[in-house]
Amino acid sequence: HAEDGYALWMRYVPLDAALADAYRSQLGAVGAPDQTPTQHAAREELSRGLAGLLGSAPQLHADAGVGQALILGTPQSSAQLAPYRKDLESLGAEGYLLRQTQLGGREVLLVAAREDIGVLYGVFHLLRLLQTGVPLQGLEVRESPKLKLRLLNHWDNLDRYVERGYAGSSLWDWQTLPDWRDPRYTDYARANASLGINGTVLNNVNANALSLTRPYLLKAAALAEVFRPYGIRVYLSTRFSAPIELGGLKTADPLDPAVQRWWRDKANEIYALIPDFGGFLVKANSEGQPGPQDYGRSHADGANLLGDALAAHGGVVMWRAFVYAHDVPEDRTKQAYGEFSGLDGAFHPNVIVQVKNGPLDFQPREPLHPLFGAMPHTPLMMELQISKEYLGFATHLVYLGPLYEEVLRSDTHARGAGSTVARVIDGSLDGHALTGIAGVANTGTDRNWTGSHFDQANWYAFGRLAWNPHQSARDIAKDWAAMTFSPDPAVVQSIVGMMMASREAAVDYMTPLGLHHLMARGHHYGPGPWVAGGPRVDWTSVYYHRADRDGIGFDRTAHGSNAVAQYAPAVANVYGDLEQVPESLLLWFHHVPWDHRMHSGRSLWDELVGRYSRGVRQVQAMQDSWDGLKGGVDAPRHQQVAAFLRIQHNEAQWWRDASVAYFQSLSGRPLPAGEVPPP
Ligand code: GCU
Repeated sequence: HAEDGYALWMRYVPLDAALADAYRSQLGAVGAPDQTPTQHAAREELSRGLAGLLGSAPQLHADAGVGQALILGTPQSSAQLAPYRKDLESLGAEGYLLRQTQLGGREVLLVAAREDIGVLYGVFHLLRLLQTGVPLQGLEVRESPKLKLRLLNHWDNLDRYVERGYAGSSLWDWQTLPDWRDPRYTDYARANASLGINGTVLNNVNANALSLTRPYLLKAAALAEVFRPYGIRVYLSTRFSAPIELGGLKTADPLDPAVQRWWRDKANEIYALIPDFGGFLVKANSEGQPGPQDYGRSHADGANLLGDALAAHGGVVMWRAFVYAHDVPEDRTKQAYGEFSGLDGAFHPNVIVQVKNGPLDFQPREPLHPLFGAMPHTPLMMELQISKEYLGFATHLVYLGPLYEEVLRSDTHARGAGSTVARVIDGSLDGHALTGIAGVANTGTDRNWTGSHFDQANWYAFGRLAWNPHQSARDIAKDWAAMTFSPDPAVVQSIVGMMMASREAAVDYMTPLGLHHLMARGHHYGPGPWVAGGPRVDWTSVYYHRADRDGIGFDRTAHGSNAVAQYAPAVANVYGDLEQVPESLLLWFHHVPWDHRMHSGRSLWDELVGRYSRGVRQVQAMQDSWDGLKGGVDAPRHQQVAAFLRIQHNEAQWWRDASVAYFQSLSGRPLPAGEVPPP
């Protein structure tokens, strides 16, 4: 089934014969303990991988002994690794060491760790090296994750509808759980473990209180059991008003002793069923969800209520900062900072605040969220969206690695230059031990998991960056392309070229130059820059682009909403200054006349039209690259990707034509020379 996408990046198809021969001599006999479920998973993965890649499964011995070329284990599980105890300690509970060395006068390769889970991660790393053709001679890899919580957030409802999901139904078949454990759950765990993802929030942030009832906790416990050997903990989204809905209480006020007792009892019940339960994710007082503000209490009061209930068990609360008010805001992007920055330091130690990458909502491009760097006494984790709600769903080929990298490398300047978002969330900037990142999952029951072959890359890139947010999106794309399609350097180069250009292409044909939220209303697919009216102004496009006869853009400088003042001065000075603001964020921060002079020398109007057209051309270029890969990529996947690129090209053209026509109706300006008028 290697060609239907089910195997993801773990395809393990035969390597080139010469390469396979070289590896085989280094990996023939393996010593690998088989006492625990995680050790078993590591052996199984190694066997599966080597059988596929090298054509024959290795001889596996449960005891490490003489003559073995590859040794897996921990100092406890393999006597030969005892001398490494100290070294492995330094890599922490999830780290691992891959090392080629001499043992008893023979060359051996060690996959060693302090704990079993590190060994499993090391096996996946070793397999990746093989899949991408890296020589093992002199190998020395020391890895440990930079972030503690590396989580997927499933926006999956209990009826299996996935909110903003474009890859079929929820993977969790609640009806047949807990009795039937679909083998796919194990493959899901393998895929995540291969990246080091160590937790999963099973249900939607718009949570149904039923998920906390005993029948559902039993189902969650069954999933937790399947995931446990792979180092993955289960978490749940919780509805703040559950004490009312499930407990029959009159209130969910966080300061009410009966409410506190209810949550403590609920936590005890959960941990009796799931001893390593990870904790709660909470969306409160946002988009109509209940929360502490309903009782005149703060986000900190609400988060601490749940934190206290979980504390005795070691659980955490991830309290989301994605909030906006019922009433019409002056500038919606300002609200999270307004509600949270004053609460810095008020959260209990097992609470972490989960902040989206940007201040609005997963747009093709946003500036960094102003809360990063602004709450030094509070652990902050970042929430990224893998599922591309605003980036063409599963049909548009948009590799999100560059988007993730852009925000991770953005400088908050909170403690001077170099205070990047990556350093805020890895805890190094402000000395936090509780650190994390979450990705809104793009998985579903589609055979290829993510709705398209290329969207697998976004799951992959998220996981790799969660392990180490300082990595390069391009390097990750190279690994993914080699593992998923072919290690042939020409194929990899061509695919990586497509991927690396794809995000900017989407920005260009959807929302260039800092424009945002111009998608069609509600479903967010396709253009809707004309969207106006309806229940809320901040759900319209005209609210965001503010275009008229004279100009376009949202003034967030001191003359406008002054959202720019929420950033550190060094950042605010750049974004707030028309001369210094990067053109990629121009219309996010400034309202400018149509004839504003751009760096290219063109007027803003001409540049805008040019960017829309450039986006369409870039999709055409991706199609050309892909056509050139016919024969280099298996036919079934080649055909599907080609068809999806045709859809994307048509829709990029649709975006360009619709947007240009609409904005021209306002600007009243002629198209620049050479631009084709919209039909
Ligand atoms: C977006 C998305 C919603 C989601 C919300 C959230 O607004 O459209 O479906 O519930 O984000 O992150 O809470």
